[in-house]
Amino acid sequence: LLTMDVDFIKSHLKAHPDFPKKGIVFLDIFPLLRSPVAFETLITHFVYRLTSHTIAASPSKKIDVIVGLDARGFLLGPLIALRLGAAFVPVRKRGKLPGRCVSASYEKEYGTDIFEMQADAIQPGQTVVVVDDLIATGGSAKAAGELIAQQGGKTLEYLFVIELPFLKGAAKLNAPVYSIVQAD
Ligand code: ADE
Repeated sequence: LLTMDVDFIKSHLKAHPDFPKKGIVFLDIFPLLRSPVAFETLITHFVYRLTSHTIAASPSKKIDVIVGLDARGFLLGPLIALRLGAAFVPVRKRGKLPGRCVSASYEKEYGTDIFEMQADAIQPGQTVVVVDDLIATGGSAKAAGELIAQQGGKTLEYLFVIELPFLKGAAKLNAPVYSIVQAD
C-alpha cells in the first residue's frame, strides 16, 4: 500500500535518544507536520487506508467517528475526520472535559492514569477508528477502546504513524492495528 509514501514519511521523523529520560529513544512526528507536503502525504495515506476496502473487520463500511488520543492524536484525527465526513471525538486525560464523562484507567511507566470521553460523544452502533502518533505498550489505545465499547461503539481499526512492534501493543487491542512505520 503506497510504499513510496512510507519512505517519504519515515524520512521526516526524528529520533531523539535519551528523551524524556535516559534509555528512551523518542520518535518525534513534528518535523513531519512542519513539511506541508509530508503532512499532506500522511493524512492522504491514512484516508486512503480507510476508504479502500482494506479494513479487515468491516470492508467498505462507513466510518462514523474518528477518536484522537491526548495529545498528538488531536493533531491528526480532526484532519482525517473532516476528509471522511466523520465526527471527531477527543479522549483526554482526567479532569479536562466538561459534562458527564466515561473513564478508563491504563498503565503508565509509574502507576496508572485515567482517560475520559464525554458520555454523549458516541452513539450505540457507531463505527469508530482510533488515531494517535505512536503505539508503544498499547495501554492508552486499549483504554480508548474501552471508552468506545462502554458507549456501544464498534472500533474498526487503530491507526498510528509509528509502531514499536517489540512492545507488542497491538496484541492488547480489540481491532486491527495499522501503522505506517515500524521502529525498532
Ligand atoms: N510514547 C511512548 N514511547 C514513545 C517514543 N519512544 N517516542 C515518542 N512517543 C512515545
